[in-house]
Amino acid sequence: MPTLRPYAPKDYPHFLALDLETAVDALGESTDRERALLRERWPGVLAELHGFTQERFGAPDALLWVLEGEGGRYLGHLWLTEKRDPAGARILEVTTMGVVREARGEGLGRLLMQKAESEARVRGIQDIELSVAGNNRRARELYRDLGYDTVRRTMRKRLRA
Ligand SMILES: CC(C)(COP(=O)(O)OP(=O)(O)OC[C@H]1O[C@@H](n2cnc3c(N)ncnc32)[C@H](O)[C@@H]1OP(=O)(O)O)[C@@H](O)C(=O)NCCC(=O)NCCS
Repeated sequence: MPTLRPYAPKDYPHFLALDLETAVDALGESTDRERALLRERWPGVLAELHGFTQERFGAPDALLWVLEGEGGRYLGHLWLTEKRDPAGARILEVTTMGVVREARGEGLGRLLMQKAESEARVRGIQDIELSVAGNNRRARELYRDLGYDTVRRTMRKRLRA
C-alpha cells in the first residue's frame, strides 16, 4: 500500500522528472526549442519562484507530499500551497500533482486529491483550487469526477509569422 510522506532531498530527481514532463505537456502546441528552453529553465524557476532546491523545499505556506511505494519507489507527489483569494478567503491550491507513468490508472491520482481535501478540512479551508492545461484530458476527467468546476479559463492565440 503506497504511503504519503514529506519531501526529502533524495526525491528531487524524481520530482523534477515528473514535474517537467507535466510542464512540457502543458505547453501544448510548442516547438522543440520552446520545450528545450523549458527543460533548461525549470530548476531555476523552482528555485527563484518557489525557493525550492534539492536540499530544501522552501516554498512559503506550502507542503510537498511524496507518494512512496514498495521499497521506497517514487510514485508521485502533491504540492499544496495555502493562499488567499482577492476577497481574503483562504484557499488551498494544488500547485502541482502527478503520478509516474508506470503507476497511472491505479487510483493514485484520486488518492492524492483526497489527501488535498483532507488537508483542507484539517486547516478549516473550504475551497481547493488548481490550474490544469486544456489538453490534459486525464487530469480534467479526474477533477471533474471529484466535483471540481471550471471558474476561469486562460485563452491564448499563437500568431503566425
Ligand atoms: C492526472 C493524473 C494525476 C491521474 O493519475 P492516475 O493515478 O492515473 O488517476 P487515477 O487512477 O486515480 O484515476 C482517477 C480518474 O482519472 C480519470 N482517468 C484516469 N485515466 C484516464 C484516462 N486514460 N483517460 C481519461 N480519464 C482518465 C478517470 O476519471 C479516473 O477515474 P476512474 O478510475 O474512476 O475511472 C496522472 O495522469 C498524471 O500524473 N498525469 C501527469 C501529471 C499531471 O497531468 N498532473 C496534473 C497537473 S494539473
